[in-house]
Amino acid sequence: MKHIAVYPGSFDPATLGHLGILKRATKLFDEVHVLVVHNPSKQPLFTSAERLNMIKQSVRELGVDISPLRFSTLESGLLAEYAEVHGAHALIKGFRTVADIEYELPMSQVNNDLSGVETIFMASEPGLGYVSSSLVKEVAALGGDISKYVTDAVSQKIQEKLNAS
Ligand code: PNS
Repeated sequence: MKHIAVYPGSFDPATLGHLGILKRATKLFDEVHVLVVHNPSKQPLFTSAERLNMIKQSVRELGVDISPLRFSTLESGLLAEYAEVHGAHALIKGFRTVADIEYELPMSQVNNDLSGVETIFMASEPGLGYVSSSLVKEVAALGGDISKYVTDAVSQKIQEKLNAS
């Protein structure tokens, strides 16, 4: 049986923390779907297509094996349904702190109720535990150096976005 997982998130933009989790997930599953999901409670800086493109570019830049990866977006509908339709038995969620687990736990339980999908929580790499997409955007907007937190591809796109605004 092929073991398939979905790695969902807003990824606005994906940080090196996200990409580290993604790389590690490919060691555990035969196929990993990177899914850029519309989260109505957030105001994204980038469109879903831009976010997905940045992840593809970042994966290439970091030399991550692309063969187990699939890339998609979910603009509406349930994540649990996407997992079911695509034969995925697991969702991958990265966590940095206990606060992340508190946010994720009810979602994992509801997703399990909805379709039986399991959520696998993966701890962030020790050096990246404080990095978030929102902090990266804030530091960049205030002229700070974000090169330790994101790939060159993401850094460049953030600059382009900031210059255009
Ligand atoms: O990166 P984020 O914003 O923390 O990701 C949260 C996300 C988008 C994965 C979550 O909001 C989600 O799963 N949305 C899909 C809609 C859905 O299935 N909602 C019910 C979840 S219990």
